[in-house]
Amino acid sequence: MTNWTPQTWRDKPASQLPNYPDQEKLEQVEGIIGKLPPLVFAGEARNLKKQLADACEGKAFVLQGGDCAESFGEFHSSKIRDTFRVLLQMAVTMTYGGSLPIIKMGRMAGQFAKPRSADTETIDGVELPSYRGDIINKLEFTEDARIPNPERMIRAYNQSASTLNLLRAFATGGYADLSKIHNWNLGFVKDTAVTTRFEKTATEIERAIQFMNACGINGDTVASMRQTDFYTCHEALLLPYEEAMTRVDSTTGDWYDTSAHFLWIGARTQQTDGAQIEFARGINNPIGMKVPPGLDGDTLITLIDKLSPENEAGRLSLISRMGAADIEEKLSPLVRRVKEEGRNVTWICDPMHGNIEKSASGYKTRQFSNILGEVQGFFNVHRAEGTHPGGVHFEMTGQNVTECVGGADDVTDEDLSSRYHTACDPRLNANQALELAFLVADELKKI
Ligand code: PEP
Ligand code: CO
Repeated sequence: MTNWTPQTWRDKPASQLPNYPDQEKLEQVEGIIGKLPPLVFAGEARNLKKQLADACEGKAFVLQGGDCAESFGEFHSSKIRDTFRVLLQMAVTMTYGGSLPIIKMGRMAGQFAKPRSADTETIDGVELPSYRGDIINKLEFTEDARIPNPERMIRAYNQSASTLNLLRAFATGGYADLSKIHNWNLGFVKDTAVTTRFEKTATEIERAIQFMNACGINGDTVASMRQTDFYTCHEALLLPYEEAMTRVDSTTGDWYDTSAHFLWIGARTQQTDGAQIEFARGINNPIGMKVPPGLDGDTLITLIDKLSPENEAGRLSLISRMGAADIEEKLSPLVRRVKEEGRNVTWICDPMHGNIEKSASGYKTRQFSNILGEVQGFFNVHRAEGTHPGGVHFEMTGQNVTECVGGADDVTDEDLSSRYHTACDPRLNANQALELAFLVADELKKI
């Protein structure tokens, strides 16, 4: 990569970065984070890139999921476990239905910084800077709370490190053992159509495992039956933090952002000459970019060429977020153009960010039917264009929250106030997330 260092983004116009009033403190924190151990190893990022290349070619499928924004207040081992468990259940449902390896990535262990549509927020005539995620300032609506504080980056790093530690333990220490599949259902609050459906799938998988065991194939002989790969990802928004976490990999001499395995560029920070694109082009991690409805084909090709100049499969994932109403009309021409121009990308569907609405009771919510509709539209587009649907990207939690309306449990507008806990966008609850996994499995079966 020519003319690039982890600092070159500083010469470019940056959107969505906080104005830290205490620059001296900022530099001090950057120095501290720059010396802290990497959270991920470059070799893991390379393995993920290889698996994403398989997804690009239709030989694997991505499941990306987790909070819209992690928070300091909601940090608890049971929360991490529950989200991990639902992701496992979703992945096994999709693997079984689609007969494809599922690449698991958590929006976890680093998903703290949030882009905002407005720099300020006004409540009852009081105007304050917007909340930008716990890594930057506090959600509380007071002047003090909203001042960006660089020291929050150190707390975010520490929380990411302990979250990742637990995720690695779950992934390799026995929790993900396929022979324990029935146990994954135990955390659900109540039996529903979707948990019953999962029980049925689990029983079928158990029979297959018993058959394989009789043939001498089990967790002792095949590691992937008792453990799994689990990767982390977040939006590469807060560049002072990402720069400080970027290191040269001693085995290859290449730069990697060691804050997560996979980093993506959001819909509000993809200016072709902007700071976030400049930063992302130089790191060797697999990266993603959101594709919103307003992005035109020429700009998309320019961005692809900046982010993936070698056109290596697995390097770049395009995460479309069009909205249920527009997906077929807006995504088809872009998919066609990328295919015609021979660019290798992994197409992932984010059915969350194009489907945000305000409920009658004033909550920011999403209709389950729209989320489902966008996923179906995504598969339709790829079927029609002869391209590969590469994965899905959800905002979800393992908790029994009431943030999105609909689904088999039929969360209603009136229910929203009972367990609405998100620090940012509304998430699917465990049942809604699993229900979507069954839909994806059904679509994968048709391929
Ligand atoms: C997000 O993924 O939380 C997000 C802000 O998405 P987008 O950039 O697509 O709006
Ligand atoms: Co969000």
